[in-house]
Amino acid sequence: MSTSPSVSLPGETMRRSFMRHRRPSATSELTSIVNKTRRKSNIASQNSPTKTKTKAIVTEIPTHSTMDSASKTPSGNQISNFGFAFDIDGVLMQKSTPIPGASECLRYLHDKEIPFILLTNGGGKTESARIQDLSEKLKVPLTLDNFVQAHTPFRTLEHLKGKTILVTGGDPIKCREISKSYGFKSVVIPGDLHVHHRSIWPFHYYPLDDAYRPEDYADDLPKPVREPGVDTEDTLKIDAIFVFNDPRDWALDIQIITDLLISRQGYLGTRSNKNGDKSLPNAGWQQDGQPQIYFSHQDLHWSTGYHMPRLGQGAFQGALCGVWDLMTKGKPLVKTTIGKPHAETYFYAERVIHHYRKLVLGEEGDRSNKLKRVWMVGDNTNSDIKGANDFSGKSSAQWPSMLVRTGVWHPERDGEPNPKPTAGIFDDVMHAVKYALEFETKELGKEGKDGWTDF
Ligand code: G3P
Ligand code: MG
Repeated sequence: MSTSPSVSLPGETMRRSFMRHRRPSATSELTSIVNKTRRKSNIASQNSPTKTKTKAIVTEIPTHSTMDSASKTPSGNQISNFGFAFDIDGVLMQKSTPIPGASECLRYLHDKEIPFILLTNGGGKTESARIQDLSEKLKVPLTLDNFVQAHTPFRTLEHLKGKTILVTGGDPIKCREISKSYGFKSVVIPGDLHVHHRSIWPFHYYPLDDAYRPEDYADDLPKPVREPGVDTEDTLKIDAIFVFNDPRDWALDIQIITDLLISRQGYLGTRSNKNGDKSLPNAGWQQDGQPQIYFSHQDLHWSTGYHMPRLGQGAFQGALCGVWDLMTKGKPLVKTTIGKPHAETYFYAERVIHHYRKLVLGEEGDRSNKLKRVWMVGDNTNSDIKGANDFSGKSSAQWPSMLVRTGVWHPERDGEPNPKPTAGIFDDVMHAVKYALEFETKELGKEGKDGWTDF
Protein backbone atom coordinates (compact mmCIF):
# COMPACT_ATOMS: atom_id res chain seq x y z
CA MET A 1 0.00 0.00 0.00
CA SER A 2 1.53 3.36 -0.95
CA THR A 3 0.50 6.31 1.16
CA SER A 4 1.99 9.81 1.16
CA PRO A 5 4.26 10.73 4.04
CA SER A 6 2.58 13.72 5.66
CA VAL A 7 -0.77 12.37 6.76
CA SER A 8 -1.57 9.57 9.26
CA LEU A 9 -1.36 6.31 7.41
CA PRO A 10 -4.87 5.67 6.20
CA GLY A 11 -3.53 2.22 5.45
CA GLU A 12 -3.32 1.60 9.19
CA THR A 13 -7.04 2.17 9.67
CA MET A 14 -7.79 0.22 6.53
CA ARG A 15 -5.40 -2.57 7.52
CA ARG A 16 -7.05 -2.68 10.97
CA SER A 17 -10.46 -2.53 9.31
CA PHE A 18 -9.31 -5.23 6.83
CA MET A 19 -8.42 -7.36 9.83
CA ARG A 20 -11.59 -6.46 11.68
CA HIS A 21 -14.07 -7.08 8.88
CA ARG A 22 -14.57 -10.24 6.90
CA ARG A 23 -16.03 -11.33 3.60
CA PRO A 24 -19.70 -12.28 3.73
CA SER A 25 -18.89 -15.88 2.85
CA ALA A 26 -15.88 -15.92 5.07
CA THR A 27 -16.37 -17.47 8.49
CA SER A 28 -15.28 -15.76 11.69
CA GLU A 29 -12.20 -17.86 12.14
CA LEU A 30 -10.82 -16.03 9.06
CA THR A 31 -9.85 -13.21 11.39
CA SER A 32 -8.10 -15.67 13.68
CA ILE A 33 -6.36 -17.22 10.64
CA VAL A 34 -5.17 -13.78 9.62
CA ASN A 35 -3.75 -13.02 13.03
CA LYS A 36 -2.18 -16.47 13.03
CA THR A 37 -0.87 -15.75 9.50
CA ARG A 38 0.59 -12.46 10.70
CA ARG A 39 2.19 -14.02 13.79
CA LYS A 40 3.80 -16.81 11.78
CA SER A 41 4.83 -14.55 8.97
CA ASN A 42 8.43 -14.71 9.99
CA ILE A 43 8.62 -18.49 9.58
CA ALA A 44 10.21 -18.86 6.16
CA SER A 45 9.19 -22.24 4.79
CA GLN A 46 11.96 -24.62 3.87
CA ASN A 47 11.36 -25.46 0.28
CA SER A 48 11.80 -22.60 -2.23
CA PRO A 49 10.76 -23.83 -5.67
CA THR A 50 13.08 -21.37 -7.36
CA LYS A 51 14.70 -22.79 -10.44
CA THR A 52 18.10 -22.68 -8.68
CA LYS A 53 18.01 -24.43 -5.28
CA THR A 54 15.33 -27.08 -4.65
CA LYS A 55 16.47 -28.16 -1.20
CA ALA A 56 13.52 -29.85 0.62
CA ILE A 57 13.57 -30.51 4.33
CA VAL A 58 10.77 -32.68 5.69
CA THR A 59 9.64 -30.92 8.90
CA GLU A 60 7.35 -33.38 10.67
CA ILE A 61 7.72 -37.14 10.46
CA PRO A 62 4.12 -38.05 9.66
CA THR A 63 2.72 -40.90 11.85
CA HIS A 64 0.83 -43.69 10.10
CA SER A 65 -2.58 -42.60 11.43
CA THR A 66 -2.05 -38.94 10.62
CA MET A 67 -0.54 -39.90 7.27
CA ASP A 68 -3.53 -41.96 6.09
CA SER A 69 -6.34 -39.97 7.69
CA ALA A 70 -4.94 -36.58 6.86
CA SER A 71 -3.48 -37.23 3.44
CA LYS A 72 -6.65 -37.87 1.49
CA THR A 73 -9.45 -35.44 0.86
CA PRO A 74 -12.98 -36.54 1.81
CA SER A 75 -13.36 -37.80 -1.77
CA GLY A 76 -10.05 -39.64 -1.76
CA ASN A 77 -7.76 -37.24 -3.61
CA GLN A 78 -4.17 -36.76 -2.44
CA ILE A 79 -4.16 -33.79 -0.05
CA SER A 80 -1.96 -30.92 -1.20
CA ASN A 81 0.01 -28.61 1.08
CA PHE A 82 0.07 -26.03 -1.71
CA GLY A 83 -2.35 -23.96 -3.79
CA PHE A 84 -2.46 -21.58 -6.72
CA ALA A 85 -3.32 -17.91 -7.19
CA PHE A 86 -4.13 -17.14 -10.81
CA ASP A 87 -4.16 -13.70 -12.36
CA ILE A 88 -6.95 -13.39 -14.95
CA ASP A 89 -6.17 -10.91 -17.78
CA GLY A 90 -3.21 -12.22 -19.76
CA VAL A 91 -3.07 -15.56 -17.89
CA LEU A 92 -6.53 -17.18 -18.05
CA MET A 93 -8.34 -14.72 -20.34
CA GLN A 94 -7.52 -12.49 -23.29
CA LYS A 95 -10.31 -9.89 -22.81
CA SER A 96 -13.32 -12.25 -22.87
CA THR A 97 -11.68 -15.30 -24.53
CA PRO A 98 -10.07 -18.10 -22.51
CA ILE A 99 -6.36 -18.52 -23.20
CA PRO A 100 -5.63 -22.05 -24.49
CA GLY A 101 -4.98 -24.48 -21.61
CA ALA A 102 -6.52 -22.25 -18.96
CA SER A 103 -9.75 -24.21 -18.71
CA GLU A 104 -7.95 -27.59 -18.58
CA CYS A 105 -5.68 -26.33 -15.77
CA LEU A 106 -8.51 -25.11 -13.58
CA ARG A 107 -10.62 -28.17 -14.22
CA TYR A 108 -7.72 -30.49 -13.31
CA LEU A 109 -7.06 -28.61 -10.06
CA HIS A 110 -10.78 -28.56 -9.30
CA ASP A 111 -11.17 -32.30 -9.90
CA LYS A 112 -8.04 -33.07 -7.84
CA GLU A 113 -9.26 -30.74 -5.05
CA ILE A 114 -6.09 -28.65 -5.18
CA PRO A 115 -7.21 -25.25 -3.81
CA PHE A 116 -6.80 -22.24 -6.11
CA ILE A 117 -8.04 -18.68 -6.16
CA LEU A 118 -8.46 -16.14 -8.92
CA LEU A 119 -6.68 -12.94 -7.90
CA THR A 120 -7.24 -10.11 -10.39
CA ASN A 121 -6.72 -6.37 -10.53
CA GLY A 122 -9.71 -6.39 -12.78
CA GLY A 123 -13.18 -5.45 -11.63
CA GLY A 124 -16.11 -3.33 -12.63
CA LYS A 125 -18.69 -6.09 -12.13
CA THR A 126 -20.05 -7.65 -8.95
CA GLU A 127 -18.09 -10.71 -7.88
CA SER A 128 -21.07 -12.98 -8.48
CA ALA A 129 -21.63 -11.62 -12.01
CA ARG A 130 -17.93 -12.01 -12.88
CA ILE A 131 -17.81 -15.53 -11.41
CA GLN A 132 -20.81 -16.64 -13.41
CA ASP A 133 -19.31 -15.25 -16.60
CA LEU A 134 -15.88 -16.81 -15.97
CA SER A 135 -17.30 -20.17 -14.85
CA GLU A 136 -19.19 -20.41 -18.14
CA LYS A 137 -16.23 -19.35 -20.26
CA LEU A 138 -13.62 -21.44 -18.41
CA LYS A 139 -16.06 -24.34 -17.93
CA VAL A 140 -15.10 -24.79 -14.25
CA PRO A 141 -17.14 -24.05 -11.13
CA LEU A 142 -15.91 -20.87 -9.43
CA THR A 143 -17.32 -19.41 -6.23
CA LEU A 144 -17.18 -16.29 -4.09
CA ASP A 145 -14.91 -18.33 -1.84
CA ASN A 146 -12.02 -18.45 -4.29
CA PHE A 147 -12.35 -15.15 -6.15
CA VAL A 148 -10.76 -11.75 -5.39
CA GLN A 149 -11.18 -8.67 -7.59
CA ALA A 150 -9.21 -5.46 -7.13
CA HIS A 151 -12.04 -3.73 -5.25
CA THR A 152 -13.27 -6.76 -3.27
CA PRO A 153 -11.35 -5.80 -0.07
CA PHE A 154 -13.21 -2.46 0.01
CA ARG A 155 -16.20 -4.42 1.26
CA THR A 156 -14.46 -4.59 4.66
CA LEU A 157 -14.56 -0.79 5.16
CA GLU A 158 -17.52 -0.90 7.56
CA HIS A 159 -16.91 2.60 8.93
CA LEU A 160 -17.95 4.07 5.55
CA LYS A 161 -21.08 1.98 4.94
CA GLY A 162 -23.39 4.61 6.55
CA LYS A 163 -21.66 7.53 4.82
CA THR A 164 -22.00 9.02 1.33
CA ILE A 165 -19.33 7.85 -1.09
CA LEU A 166 -18.41 8.86 -4.65
CA VAL A 167 -17.57 5.88 -6.87
CA THR A 168 -16.10 6.00 -10.35
CA GLY A 169 -14.44 3.56 -12.71
CA GLY A 170 -15.77 1.44 -15.54
CA ASP A 171 -19.46 1.02 -16.13
CA PRO A 172 -21.08 3.64 -13.87
CA ILE A 173 -24.27 1.62 -13.33
CA LYS A 174 -22.27 -1.43 -12.30
CA CYS A 175 -20.06 0.65 -9.99
CA ARG A 176 -23.16 1.66 -8.04
CA GLU A 177 -24.41 -1.94 -8.04
CA ILE A 178 -21.06 -3.24 -6.71
CA SER A 179 -20.95 -0.56 -3.98
CA LYS A 180 -24.46 -1.45 -2.88
CA SER A 181 -23.54 -5.17 -2.91
CA TYR A 182 -20.70 -4.29 -0.50
CA GLY A 183 -23.19 -2.61 1.84
CA PHE A 184 -22.50 1.05 1.04
CA LYS A 185 -25.87 2.77 1.51
CA SER A 186 -25.39 6.18 -0.15
CA VAL A 187 -23.51 6.03 -3.44
CA VAL A 188 -23.03 8.93 -5.87
CA ILE A 189 -21.44 8.51 -9.31
CA PRO A 190 -20.05 11.38 -11.44
CA GLY A 191 -22.92 10.98 -13.95
CA ASP A 192 -25.43 11.81 -11.18
CA LEU A 193 -23.64 15.10 -10.50
CA HIS A 194 -23.32 16.00 -14.18
CA VAL A 195 -27.00 15.35 -14.88
CA HIS A 196 -28.27 17.27 -11.86
CA HIS A 197 -25.68 20.00 -12.00
CA ARG A 198 -24.67 20.39 -15.64
CA SER A 199 -22.39 23.40 -15.06
CA ILE A 200 -20.13 21.34 -12.80
CA TRP A 201 -18.42 20.23 -16.03
CA PRO A 202 -19.09 22.37 -19.08
CA PHE A 203 -18.37 19.63 -21.60
CA HIS A 204 -20.62 16.70 -22.36
CA TYR A 205 -19.15 13.26 -23.03
CA TYR A 206 -21.04 11.28 -25.63
CA PRO A 207 -20.40 7.61 -24.89
CA LEU A 208 -20.09 5.37 -27.94
CA ASP A 209 -22.82 3.19 -26.52
CA ASP A 210 -26.17 4.97 -26.03
CA ALA A 211 -26.86 2.71 -23.07
CA TYR A 212 -24.52 4.92 -21.08
CA ARG A 213 -26.26 8.27 -21.50
CA PRO A 214 -25.97 9.68 -17.95
CA GLU A 215 -29.53 10.92 -18.27
CA ASP A 216 -30.65 7.28 -18.38
CA TYR A 217 -28.86 5.99 -15.30
CA ALA A 218 -28.43 9.04 -13.05
CA ASP A 219 -29.88 8.72 -9.55
CA ASP A 220 -31.24 11.59 -7.50
CA LEU A 221 -28.58 13.14 -5.30
CA PRO A 222 -28.89 12.59 -1.51
CA LYS A 223 -28.58 16.37 -1.17
CA PRO A 224 -28.29 19.21 -3.73
CA VAL A 225 -24.87 20.44 -4.79
CA ARG A 226 -24.06 23.66 -2.99
CA GLU A 227 -24.87 26.88 -4.78
CA PRO A 228 -23.24 30.11 -3.57
CA GLY A 229 -25.27 31.62 -0.70
CA VAL A 230 -26.87 28.29 0.25
CA ASP A 231 -26.19 27.00 3.77
CA THR A 232 -23.51 24.36 3.30
CA GLU A 233 -24.88 21.95 5.92
CA ASP A 234 -27.88 21.21 3.68
CA THR A 235 -25.82 20.39 0.66
CA LEU A 236 -24.05 17.32 -0.69
CA LYS A 237 -21.14 16.05 1.41
CA ILE A 238 -18.94 13.22 0.11
CA ASP A 239 -17.11 11.21 2.82
CA ALA A 240 -14.89 9.00 0.63
CA ILE A 241 -13.92 8.61 -3.03
CA PHE A 242 -13.43 5.20 -4.65
CA VAL A 243 -11.94 4.34 -8.03
CA PHE A 244 -13.14 0.78 -8.69
CA ASN A 245 -11.50 0.06 -12.04
CA ASP A 246 -10.79 1.86 -15.31
CA PRO A 247 -12.69 5.23 -15.45
CA ARG A 248 -14.30 6.08 -18.78
CA ASP A 249 -14.75 9.87 -18.57
CA TRP A 250 -11.38 10.94 -17.12
CA ALA A 251 -12.12 14.64 -17.57
CA LEU A 252 -15.42 14.69 -15.65
CA ASP A 253 -14.00 12.39 -12.96
CA ILE A 254 -10.82 14.44 -12.45
CA GLN A 255 -12.89 17.66 -12.22
CA ILE A 256 -15.21 16.27 -9.54
CA ILE A 257 -12.47 14.49 -7.58
CA THR A 258 -10.28 17.61 -7.43
CA ASP A 259 -13.33 19.69 -6.45
CA LEU A 260 -13.77 17.36 -3.47
CA LEU A 261 -10.05 17.35 -2.59
CA ILE A 262 -9.99 21.18 -2.33
CA SER A 263 -13.38 21.36 -0.56
CA ARG A 264 -14.18 22.02 3.08
CA GLN A 265 -15.04 18.73 4.81
CA GLY A 266 -16.15 17.16 1.50
CA TYR A 267 -18.96 19.64 0.79
CA LEU A 268 -18.91 19.73 -3.03
CA GLY A 269 -18.72 23.28 -4.36
CA THR A 270 -16.87 24.65 -1.31
CA ARG A 271 -13.18 25.53 -1.00
CA SER A 272 -11.11 25.08 2.17
CA ASN A 273 -9.27 28.19 3.27
CA LYS A 274 -6.46 25.92 4.47
CA ASN A 275 -5.44 25.07 0.91
CA GLY A 276 -1.96 26.43 0.21
CA ASP A 277 -1.39 27.54 3.82
CA LYS A 278 2.34 26.86 4.16
CA SER A 279 2.14 26.96 7.95
CA LEU A 280 0.15 23.73 7.82
CA PRO A 281 1.31 20.19 7.01
CA ASN A 282 1.29 19.46 3.28
CA ALA A 283 0.88 23.21 2.83
CA GLY A 284 -2.70 22.87 4.05
CA TRP A 285 -3.78 20.60 1.20
CA GLN A 286 -6.08 17.78 2.31
CA GLN A 287 -5.93 19.12 5.88
CA ASP A 288 -9.61 20.04 6.26
CA GLY A 289 -11.51 16.75 6.50
CA GLN A 290 -11.60 16.22 2.78
CA PRO A 291 -12.70 12.72 1.68
CA GLN A 292 -10.02 10.06 1.44
CA ILE A 293 -9.42 8.67 -2.04
CA TYR A 294 -9.07 4.90 -2.53
CA PHE A 295 -7.74 3.33 -5.73
CA SER A 296 -8.41 -0.38 -6.26
CA HIS A 297 -5.14 -0.83 -8.15
CA GLN A 298 -2.40 1.00 -10.05
CA ASP A 299 -1.83 -1.08 -13.18
CA LEU A 300 -0.44 1.28 -15.81
CA HIS A 301 -1.09 -1.31 -18.51
CA TRP A 302 -3.26 -4.36 -18.90
CA SER A 303 -3.60 -7.06 -21.51
CA THR A 304 -6.67 -6.87 -23.74
CA GLY A 305 -7.48 -8.08 -27.27
CA TYR A 306 -5.35 -5.33 -28.81
CA HIS A 307 -1.83 -6.39 -29.88
CA MET A 308 -0.25 -3.94 -27.42
CA PRO A 309 -1.13 -3.54 -23.70
CA ARG A 310 -3.66 -0.74 -23.01
CA LEU A 311 -3.59 1.97 -20.39
CA GLY A 312 -5.21 0.94 -17.11
CA GLN A 313 -6.34 2.58 -13.87
CA GLY A 314 -2.74 3.44 -13.03
CA ALA A 315 -2.70 5.83 -15.99
CA PHE A 316 -5.86 7.54 -14.67
CA GLN A 317 -4.21 7.84 -11.26
CA GLY A 318 -1.15 9.33 -12.96
CA ALA A 319 -3.30 11.87 -14.81
CA LEU A 320 -5.11 12.88 -11.63
CA CYS A 321 -1.81 13.21 -9.72
CA GLY A 322 -0.49 15.33 -12.58
CA VAL A 323 -3.40 17.76 -12.31
CA TRP A 324 -3.10 17.78 -8.51
CA ASP A 325 0.61 18.52 -8.79
CA LEU A 326 -0.19 21.60 -10.92
CA MET A 327 -3.03 22.72 -8.60
CA THR A 328 -0.94 22.42 -5.43
CA LYS A 329 2.40 23.49 -6.88
CA GLY A 330 3.92 20.08 -6.36
CA LYS A 331 2.21 18.68 -3.26
CA PRO A 332 1.78 14.88 -3.38
CA LEU A 333 -1.78 13.55 -3.50
CA VAL A 334 -2.58 11.73 -0.24
CA LYS A 335 -4.26 8.54 -1.43
CA THR A 336 -4.69 4.84 -0.63
CA THR A 337 -4.01 2.24 -3.29
CA ILE A 338 -4.63 -1.48 -2.92
CA GLY A 339 -4.64 -4.31 -5.46
CA LYS A 340 -1.57 -6.28 -6.56
CA PRO A 341 1.35 -5.68 -5.68
CA HIS A 342 0.16 -4.28 -2.35
CA ALA A 343 0.54 -6.52 0.71
CA GLU A 344 -3.00 -5.80 1.92
CA THR A 345 -4.41 -7.48 -1.14
CA TYR A 346 -2.12 -10.47 -0.67
CA PHE A 347 -3.01 -10.72 3.04
CA TYR A 348 -6.64 -10.60 1.97
CA ALA A 349 -6.04 -13.19 -0.77
CA GLU A 350 -4.23 -15.48 1.67
CA ARG A 351 -7.21 -15.31 4.03
CA VAL A 352 -9.40 -16.30 1.14
CA ILE A 353 -7.24 -19.27 0.12
CA HIS A 354 -7.07 -20.48 3.76
CA HIS A 355 -10.83 -20.27 3.98
CA TYR A 356 -11.33 -21.99 0.62
CA ARG A 357 -8.84 -24.70 1.54
CA LYS A 358 -10.93 -25.61 4.56
CA LEU A 359 -13.96 -25.96 2.30
CA VAL A 360 -12.07 -28.16 -0.19
CA LEU A 361 -9.90 -30.26 2.12
CA GLY A 362 -12.21 -30.40 5.11
CA GLU A 363 -11.33 -29.18 8.60
CA GLU A 364 -9.00 -32.09 9.37
CA GLY A 365 -7.30 -32.01 5.98
CA ASP A 366 -6.64 -28.30 6.26
CA ARG A 367 -5.60 -28.45 9.93
CA SER A 368 -3.14 -31.33 9.55
CA ASN A 369 -1.60 -30.18 6.26
CA LYS A 370 -0.16 -26.71 6.69
CA LEU A 371 -0.32 -24.58 3.55
CA LYS A 372 3.32 -24.35 2.43
CA ARG A 373 3.17 -22.78 -1.00
CA VAL A 374 0.86 -20.60 -3.07
CA TRP A 375 2.04 -20.57 -6.70
CA MET A 376 1.29 -17.10 -8.14
CA VAL A 377 0.83 -17.20 -11.93
CA GLY A 378 0.85 -13.74 -13.53
CA ASP A 379 1.59 -11.78 -16.70
CA ASN A 380 2.50 -8.45 -15.12
CA THR A 381 5.89 -8.04 -13.38
CA ASN A 382 4.82 -4.84 -11.59
CA SER A 383 1.72 -6.31 -10.01
CA ASP A 384 1.63 -10.14 -10.01
CA ILE A 385 5.33 -10.92 -9.71
CA LYS A 386 6.35 -8.01 -7.46
CA GLY A 387 3.36 -8.66 -5.21
CA ALA A 388 4.09 -12.37 -4.74
CA ASN A 389 7.84 -11.83 -4.31
CA ASP A 390 7.33 -9.14 -1.66
CA PHE A 391 4.57 -11.07 0.12
CA SER A 392 6.57 -14.28 0.31
CA GLY A 393 8.63 -12.64 3.03
CA LYS A 394 5.56 -11.60 5.01
CA SER A 395 3.57 -14.83 4.92
CA SER A 396 3.97 -18.20 6.58
CA ALA A 397 3.44 -19.75 3.17
CA GLN A 398 5.81 -19.22 0.28
CA TRP A 399 4.45 -17.46 -2.82
CA PRO A 400 6.69 -18.64 -5.68
CA SER A 401 6.00 -16.41 -8.68
CA MET A 402 5.63 -17.59 -12.30
CA LEU A 403 5.58 -15.20 -15.28
CA VAL A 404 3.77 -16.22 -18.48
CA ARG A 405 4.32 -14.93 -22.00
CA THR A 406 0.63 -14.59 -22.87
CA GLY A 407 0.00 -11.14 -21.43
CA VAL A 408 1.47 -7.72 -20.58
CA TRP A 409 5.10 -8.77 -20.26
CA HIS A 410 6.72 -9.27 -23.62
CA PRO A 411 10.38 -10.42 -23.79
CA GLU A 412 11.17 -8.57 -27.04
CA ARG A 413 9.48 -5.36 -25.89
CA ASP A 414 10.31 -5.39 -22.17
CA GLY A 415 13.57 -7.39 -21.99
CA GLU A 416 14.51 -9.25 -18.80
CA PRO A 417 11.61 -9.28 -16.33
CA ASN A 418 12.11 -6.99 -13.36
CA PRO A 419 11.30 -8.04 -10.71
CA LYS A 420 12.32 -11.56 -11.62
CA PRO A 421 9.81 -14.37 -11.17
CA THR A 422 11.18 -16.73 -8.48
CA ALA A 423 9.88 -19.91 -10.12
CA GLY A 424 10.58 -18.98 -13.73
CA ILE A 425 9.10 -17.83 -17.03
CA PHE A 426 6.59 -20.04 -18.87
CA ASP A 427 4.96 -19.97 -22.29
CA ASP A 428 1.49 -20.08 -20.75
CA VAL A 429 -0.52 -21.10 -17.69
CA MET A 430 -0.56 -24.77 -18.73
CA HIS A 431 3.27 -24.97 -18.65
CA ALA A 432 3.40 -23.08 -15.37
CA VAL A 433 0.93 -25.43 -13.66
CA LYS A 434 2.75 -28.42 -15.10
CA TYR A 435 6.04 -27.20 -13.59
CA ALA A 436 4.44 -26.61 -10.18
CA LEU A 437 2.77 -30.02 -10.12
CA GLU A 438 6.03 -31.72 -11.06
CA PHE A 439 7.77 -29.86 -8.25
CA GLU A 440 5.07 -30.80 -5.75
CA THR A 441 5.02 -34.41 -6.94
CA LYS A 442 8.77 -34.60 -6.34
CA GLU A 443 8.27 -33.09 -2.87
CA LEU A 444 5.57 -35.60 -2.07
CA GLY A 445 7.71 -38.41 -3.47
CA LYS A 446 10.10 -37.75 -0.59
CA GLU A 447 7.32 -38.84 1.73
CA GLY A 448 6.71 -41.93 -0.41
CA LYS A 449 3.41 -40.59 -1.67
CA ASP A 450 2.11 -40.33 -5.21
CA GLY A 451 1.70 -36.86 -6.56
CA TRP A 452 0.04 -35.39 -9.62
CA THR A 453 1.68 -37.12 -12.56
CA ASP A 454 -1.47 -37.35 -14.68
CA PHE A 455 -1.68 -33.67 -15.58
O1 G3P B 1 -7.97 -3.66 -15.30
C1 G3P B 1 -7.54 -4.97 -15.08
C2 G3P B 1 -6.21 -5.18 -15.30
O2 G3P B 1 -5.53 -4.11 -14.88
C3 G3P B 1 -5.48 -6.39 -14.86
O3 G3P B 1 -6.24 -7.45 -14.52
O4 G3P B 1 -6.46 -9.88 -14.09
O5 G3P B 1 -4.38 -9.00 -15.12
O6 G3P B 1 -4.86 -8.54 -12.74
P1 G3P B 1 -5.44 -8.79 -14.09
MG1 MG C 1 -2.85 -9.86 -15.83
